[in-house]
Amino acid sequence: MITINEHYLKLQASYLFSDIAKKVNAYQEAHPEQEIIRLGIGDVTHGLPPACVEAFHKAVDEMGIDASFRGYGPEQGYAFLREAIAENDFQARGADISADEIFVSDGAKCDTSNIQELFAREIQVAIPDPVYPVYLDTNVMAGRTGTFADGRYQGLIYLDATRENNFVPDLPTEKVDLIYLCFPNNPTGSTITREGLKRWVDYARENQALILFDAAYEAFIRDESLPKSIYEIEGAREVAIEFRSLSKNAGFTGTRCAYTVVPKECRAFDSNGNAHMIHPLWNRRHCTKFNGVSYPVQRAAEAVYSAAGKAQITELVSAYMENADIIRESMIELGYDCVGGDNAPYIWIDAKGGSWDFFDMLLNKTGVVCTPGAGFGRCGEGYIRLSAFNSRENVEKAMQRIKEALV
Ligand code: MLT
Repeated sequence: MITINEHYLKLQASYLFSDIAKKVNAYQEAHPEQEIIRLGIGDVTHGLPPACVEAFHKAVDEMGIDASFRGYGPEQGYAFLREAIAENDFQARGADISADEIFVSDGAKCDTSNIQELFAREIQVAIPDPVYPVYLDTNVMAGRTGTFADGRYQGLIYLDATRENNFVPDLPTEKVDLIYLCFPNNPTGSTITREGLKRWVDYARENQALILFDAAYEAFIRDESLPKSIYEIEGAREVAIEFRSLSKNAGFTGTRCAYTVVPKECRAFDSNGNAHMIHPLWNRRHCTKFNGVSYPVQRAAEAVYSAAGKAQITELVSAYMENADIIRESMIELGYDCVGGDNAPYIWIDAKGGSWDFFDMLLNKTGVVCTPGAGFGRCGEGYIRLSAFNSRENVEKAMQRIKEALV
């Protein structure tokens, strides 16, 4: 008899963004005349930077000629891209990361999901609330939780992010083994200071724990005093894995390219307490289960680090951050308490009532799609998230409609 992984049966309904898409599609069918403005899922809308498009084309042409054709590439990514990443994203900021510690992949979502299969089922996992649902769901699938009760899975340590702690969770009071952190945060848009991040690194070192640091939104940090990488913090190489993405800064959500950094000293322990390096284990997994990102995509990604690419990306990020300013200022003007939007493309707004009620009201009255905070966890109830990923014109139109509907 074929039996299923029953942990899947514990999962709550469907994936948050699929639920929202279904609701929006149903609304659109019922109101075909309404133009919908999507400030829900964080999907970019501007075209790829011209430097990336040019490199992409050139690489596609190379693939059509025997002399320059490339078949299977290195699973970890081509050296040209890994070197550009190490130099520009880390060494240039004083973070000691080398090219062979970078694993190029097709997405931070997949990497943050897949990494947890390296660790024992019995470990104690600490997950922020609210949180990007992928961290939570993949641990449920792996059997690290009990059932869902009162808005939470049993067996996990939830790290509450609330107004009181400025949406930066406090250290756990108990001992945990695996910690998920995301800064700038999705969904709240909050950021962490160097001192704040150092406390987590110190905790991980003292408790033989490991931090999974999702830095997919680092490009949106405007405050130069904030850390962009956990490796800017002393001691992090032994206790942290970092996830990065080209989706949001360079518009690669449809093109797919991301990477994970596993420093050579980064360790986990066997049941006898002996340390093992994670780098060879992740390398083994990557080589066994992943065939690499396509050559043209990696060439397009490399162009992100060219002089022209850097200038174009600065422009793209600035355009989205101008949208964030508009959203944040408009909502504050309307009397809503907001965080995020200053160093992140997400604005987290106190809805003054139920998250899903606000979502429905906004969709029905204005045709604007937000993300209900409750979808990110119990602490997200009462909040909504607006995303700055859209055109300036649409953001202005959305805020105008919201002003008219809410005053
Ligand atoms: C989000 O809206 O939270 C993100 O776009 C989801 C993702 O990057 O997978």
